Amino acid sequence: MNASAHDLAAILPPGFTMGVATAAFQIEGALDEDGRGPSGWDVFAAQPGMIVNDHSPAIATDHYHRMPEDVALMKELGVDSYRFSLSWPRIQPGGSGPVNPKGLDFYDRLIDLLLANGITPMATLYHWDTPLELDEAGGWMNRDTAYRLGEFAAIAAAAYGDRVARWVTINEPATVSANGYMLGLHSPGEAHMLRALPSVHHQLLGHGLAMQALRAAKVPGEIGLTNVYSPMVPASINPLDKVSAGLMDMAQNRLYADPVLLGKYPDAIRAATFFSSFSPSSEDLELISQPLDFYGLNYYMPTRVGAGPGDGTMPEGMAEAMGNDLNGGAGTPFHIQSFPDTEITAYGWPIKPDYMAVALAEMAERYPELPPVYITEGGASFEDLEIHDADGRLIVPDERRVRYLAEHLQAAIEATSPGGAAESIDLRGYYVWSLLDNFEWSAGYKQQFGLLHVDRDTMVRTPKASFHWLRELLAARNRTESGAETGTTAGVAETETAAETGTTPGSAAETGSTAGSGSPAAGAPAAG
Ligand code: BGC
Repeated sequence: MNASAHDLAAILPPGFTMGVATAAFQIEGALDEDGRGPSGWDVFAAQPGMIVNDHSPAIATDHYHRMPEDVALMKELGVDSYRFSLSWPRIQPGGSGPVNPKGLDFYDRLIDLLLANGITPMATLYHWDTPLELDEAGGWMNRDTAYRLGEFAAIAAAAYGDRVARWVTINEPATVSANGYMLGLHSPGEAHMLRALPSVHHQLLGHGLAMQALRAAKVPGEIGLTNVYSPMVPASINPLDKVSAGLMDMAQNRLYADPVLLGKYPDAIRAATFFSSFSPSSEDLELISQPLDFYGLNYYMPTRVGAGPGDGTMPEGMAEAMGNDLNGGAGTPFHIQSFPDTEITAYGWPIKPDYMAVALAEMAERYPELPPVYITEGGASFEDLEIHDADGRLIVPDERRVRYLAEHLQAAIEATSPGGAAESIDLRGYYVWSLLDNFEWSAGYKQQFGLLHVDRDTMVRTPKASFHWLRELLAARNRTESGAETGTTAGVAETETAAETGTTPGSAAETGSTAGSGSPAAGAPAAG
């Protein structure tokens, strides 16, 4: 039985941030407008067969034109914070060199509007939409891209540093390297397998350089990065399955977290340098492991791993949903299996809220110096039922999403409360993926994670049951807080948090100031 919105509201720790998350390429559309440059994803998605049903990201959710409406919906929802990404090719069309004032202006308006509505901005610098010119020069296989991200961070810091309370340098480098450079399922569509290791290192270096640039600009906001984490579960007690799960854990989890949090790559990866030209220097590792203000963790599901290539098929649902077959041609010495008797999402992902606690506990155990954590993404895609009431109004009773969110949020809070499996973790918040149904990368519009349904013809947004549920939860939380005589509303609580870090969200919006906009720093940050 999952907790009701009211029960959950009661266990949210004081000051806990509830947010929603999106990414620029998945929602904005307007790919050719107002001076935006092309991204590698524009080109990848236009190739026949790369995206389910050849869906196009050209309009996505039309957020570029509907941004004020989307902020108003967030206000209605009552969230404390919004995690969005800055489109690199919109702000700096070539990935280096001149900036696009209209691109800068879009996020300027977004940030001001968020603040005016009491919503704390969390900005991701890199959520996969690499400017095409950089991809053409080798993308993340090319070390230069890391320096370009550092430069982009300096531009963003000069433009928005006064108002962004939380910065995420990069989002899920594991997915970029695995899908984009090892298996060829995402842009730029390369399938180098182990020879893709430099793409891992260069992304992490990009994170380090971006952090260095944000620190050099003295942004008052907190800085972190986001890694996805999936606990790896051996398919049986067979030692080979155990070894396989360990390999997968190394390849998907440790490879990205160890360098950042421990300052070194896992031993097995160092052994793998035999297969590649991958040899990180200690200077690079120092940059990569600079102290973070927070660690962003995306948790969706655990992964069940068996030895050998398997029978070449993905677990039920996953292959058709993704439009590709990971287990088929990858040639890995392990394969993914379904969990027995486990409900799955439309993507075929196992629904296992108890593994949220496992993920957090493993993080706590592996990384004793772990900074405060935000769950920067969590959510589920389902084929939502769409019904119309007597007046023809659309109703989307996505009860399974409500259950998913409630159970995962509850699990995260309980695991990090005194006596919980990961009690040492200072969990600061949970961001629901996603605010609205959007372009789900290679799955196009087939997989939908939104709290808001988006009509693909009219772009009309309709709140689903999950939206109403979250709104009720937040309203109940606010009543409890004001009942506790703090008189604090969600927005104010967030403002206070930011004030502690020196940011003054709201003030810029109130004074109408757009300090920094249009005056990006031209210089690249010092490279280590
Ligand atoms: C990504 C999102 C994506 C979500 C659901 C995460 O890997 O950061 O961009 O839409 O998962 O697949």
